[in-house]
Amino acid sequence: MNVNEVVKFVDKIVFDKTGKHLDDIQIAVVQGTWERQTYDDIAQECNVTKNHVGDVGAELWQLLSKAFDEDIKKNNFRSTFERLQITSSQFINIQSSHNFKFCSYPTQNNNNSQENHIHHKLSYHDLTLASKIINFYNRETELKTLSNWILNQKTPLISVLGLSGIGKTTLVKRFVDLNLQQFEVIIWRSLKFPKSLNLLIDDLLNVCKQETKEVIDDKLKQLFDIFKDKKCLIILDNLENIFIHRQYAGQYKPEHQDYQTFLQMITGIEHQSSIILISQEKCQEMISLDSELYPSHCLELSGLGDAATEILKNQRLQDEEVWLNLIKLYEGHPRYLQYISILIKEVFQGEVAEFLKENNLILTEDIKSMFYLTWMRLSEVEKQMLLEVSQTKQPLSRDEIKKLLSPSSTDVINGIQSLNRRFLLTKSETNEKLFNLSPVLKAYLKIIS
Ligand SMILES: Nc1ncnc2c1ncn2[C@@H]1O[C@H](COP(=O)(O)OP(=O)(O)O)[C@@H](O)[C@H]1O
Ligand SMILES: [Mg+2]
Repeated sequence: MNVNEVVKFVDKIVFDKTGKHLDDIQIAVVQGTWERQTYDDIAQECNVTKNHVGDVGAELWQLLSKAFDEDIKKNNFRSTFERLQITSSQFINIQSSHNFKFCSYPTQNNNNSQENHIHHKLSYHDLTLASKIINFYNRETELKTLSNWILNQKTPLISVLGLSGIGKTTLVKRFVDLNLQQFEVIIWRSLKFPKSLNLLIDDLLNVCKQETKEVIDDKLKQLFDIFKDKKCLIILDNLENIFIHRQYAGQYKPEHQDYQTFLQMITGIEHQSSIILISQEKCQEMISLDSELYPSHCLELSGLGDAATEILKNQRLQDEEVWLNLIKLYEGHPRYLQYISILIKEVFQGEVAEFLKENNLILTEDIKSMFYLTWMRLSEVEKQMLLEVSQTKQPLSRDEIKKLLSPSSTDVINGIQSLNRRFLLTKSETNEKLFNLSPVLKAYLKIIS
């Protein structure tokens, strides 16, 4: 926002509240305060007394404080307005909208008075590190599920889970983009380079312009006060990075053990906010032990289905009549299909039918790298189990898996649970007692065995 936009913005608010536009002195007060001038300087420029400028200012700050439900004064006017999530383009929308709204985001449902109240309150939205979404296909059911859990049921802890590249980040970002106006605080953080819980909480409190206390207990109290007072949505992406490698899924690294307590607090304490965890691994805290006492939900993503044809269309591939075969082969997994499309363009002149004639599930180096990263996270039992199970064509029962392996029965059972929590070993669609590996994973295991 530049100074002219600020003046126009304040003028719009004042006009909405009083029916009158800003006069010359009021404009000078807004401009001067924005430029960090003293009342003395402003008074000299306008040729009026300092007291008069002070009175005009006091009246303005009172009006703005009421409009935003926040204490606005000369010494915090600029910092407060800089906090507003208003870009020039959004400002144009505000100007042209009939009723004043604090933010003009895309809305799904705008006729609720509580929502309108949120528009007028100051929002702390920090989506700097969230990916930009240009194309978004399918996932209507998943979006509805998220809306129901978060907006209707007000579930405090939601986990969006699935294989790397399946579309977790994209889905959650789309949900956030569609529902920005529903939350006073939205903060997106990635734990790709995980930081201590202490630093994460400092970071969250900073975004909410809170001076952080010294001790972690006090900081948590500050944070939960905000969760109670404001409707917040916090997204923690790439959560799997706080889990330890070469052990069963969802075990916290020693230095990140306190995240476990934090996640337990989110479901155990009453507040009005939601946290979305995005992860390739499920951990115990995501699974509700008692749905009334500790409300939480998991959304496990599978492929995009037929809608993945849009990905192939985007890559301008040929032979549309066989696209569904390609999608089926790669299980509608958007990232695999993106990599394969590039390969087809580069080596098969974009001819999908030619590629399919290879009659072989081909893995590009990029797909192999994705699997390698997952492989490196597995415990020895899980690795052994995958290699053995990949040798068989049919889905296997728990007892059949046990027979294939030498580790103890407990290890095998824990291994099955862990592979299931990583979405690598899945239950057969036709028989819940049988376990399956995806053909793409089998192709990878064949390469490395
Ligand atoms: N619903 C979707 N519509 C269009 N593209 C998608 C969709 N879901 C995922 N993608 C594409 O697939 C790729 C991987 O998605 P991403 O959300 O990063 O996966 P994840 O977070 O599960 O690792 C991205 O390039 C994204 O553009
Ligand atoms: Mg992601």
